[in-house]
Amino acid sequence: MLILSIESSCDETAAAIVKDGREVLSSIVATQIAEHKIYGGVVPEIASRRHTESISAVVSEAIESAGITYKDIDAVAVTFAPGLIGALLVGVNFAKGLSLRLGVPLIPVHHLRSHIAANYIAYPELEPPFLCLLASGGNSLIAEVKGYTDFNIIGKTRDDAAGECFDKVARTLGMSYPGGVNLDKVADPEKADTYRLPTPSVEGSKYDFSFSGLKTAVINLAHNLTQKGEEIDVPAMCGAVRKKVCDIMLTNTLEAAKEFGYKKISVAGGVSANSELRARFQEECAKMGYELFIPPLKYCGDNAAMVGAQGYYEYLSGNIADADLNAYATMPIDYRK
Ligand code: KG4
Repeated sequence: MLILSIESSCDETAAAIVKDGREVLSSIVATQIAEHKIYGGVVPEIASRRHTESISAVVSEAIESAGITYKDIDAVAVTFAPGLIGALLVGVNFAKGLSLRLGVPLIPVHHLRSHIAANYIAYPELEPPFLCLLASGGNSLIAEVKGYTDFNIIGKTRDDAAGECFDKVARTLGMSYPGGVNLDKVADPEKADTYRLPTPSVEGSKYDFSFSGLKTAVINLAHNLTQKGEEIDVPAMCGAVRKKVCDIMLTNTLEAAKEFGYKKISVAGGVSANSELRARFQEECAKMGYELFIPPLKYCGDNAAMVGAQGYYEYLSGNIADADLNAYATMPIDYRK
C-alpha cells in the first residue's frame, strides 16, 4: 500500500511516499528555520504562510522522487494534531483536497504517534509492545506502546517540554534558534558539574516531568551571574543543563521499564537527536540487557515519512477521516476516535 503523507504541524513542510508503513520511497522536508531564526522562535503566522507557499511543490517533489504518479497513491495521511493550528490546517486542507480528487482514503495522524513510528522505518523488526520516551519541543512523555494505535501514558510533563527547556536556556545564553541543537554542540560534559542545578520532581507522580522549574533556575542563575559581573562559562552551563535533563529522562524511563516489565525501549521526538541522551540510553540499556530503538538523526525531527509509517497502522485499525476532518492544537496521544 502506497501512502502519500503530509506534515505541517510546526516549521517544516514535509511530504513523503511510504510503502506498507515501513519502506520510505521519498521524504521531502522544506524547513523554515532560517526565517524564524531572526525572531528567536517560531512565529505561527509566518509558519502558516510558508506552508501555504511550499506545500504544493513539496508534495510534487515527493511524488517525483519516489518515481510514482498520483494514480499509484492508495491513501493520503496527514498530521491533524497537535501543533500550531494555522500550520496544521494547511496540511489538513491540502490532504483533504488530494484525497477527494484521487478518490482515496484520508488518514488522520497524531503528531506524537508519528514521532514514535519513526522507529518503525529504522527498525523493521520493531513491533509493539514496547516502552517509549517521547521528547520534543512541545511534549515530553513516557508511554506504553501496547499496539500500533494503543497507548497508555505513564508519565508526562506537567509544564514545559524538554525541548522548550533546552531552547529557552540556549536563547538566554545567546544561541540562535533552534537552541536545543546548538546547546548540544556547545555543551562540555567535562564541566557539567560546574553549576549545581535542581532536580525537579512531581510529588506523588514519580514518572511525571517538570522542566519549567529547571528552565527558570538556569535562566535565573545566568542573570544573577551577569548582574554580579561574573562571566558565564557557557559550555559548562550547557553541559550542566544537558546532563540534568538527560538524568531526569533516563531515570524515569528506566524505572518505568522496570516497574511495567518492558525490555524493549524506544526514544523518539526532536530531543532524541541529543548526543548525550543517545549515548547514555545506549550505555544504560546495554547494561540492563534492554533492546533500544532510537531513530536515525534524519527521522528525529519533523518529517512526513514517520506520518506515512503511522498512517499505515491507523488505516489498518480503521482510522479513516471524512471531508470534515479538523485540525487540533492539542490532543492526547491516547485519544480515542
Ligand atoms: O520533535 P520536534 O522536531 O518538534 C516538535 O514536534 O516539537 O522537536 C523539536 C525540539 C526543539 O526543542 C529542538 O531544540 C529539540 O527538539 N532538539 C534538540 C536537539 N535537536 C533538536 N534538543 C537537544 N539536543 C539536540 N541535539
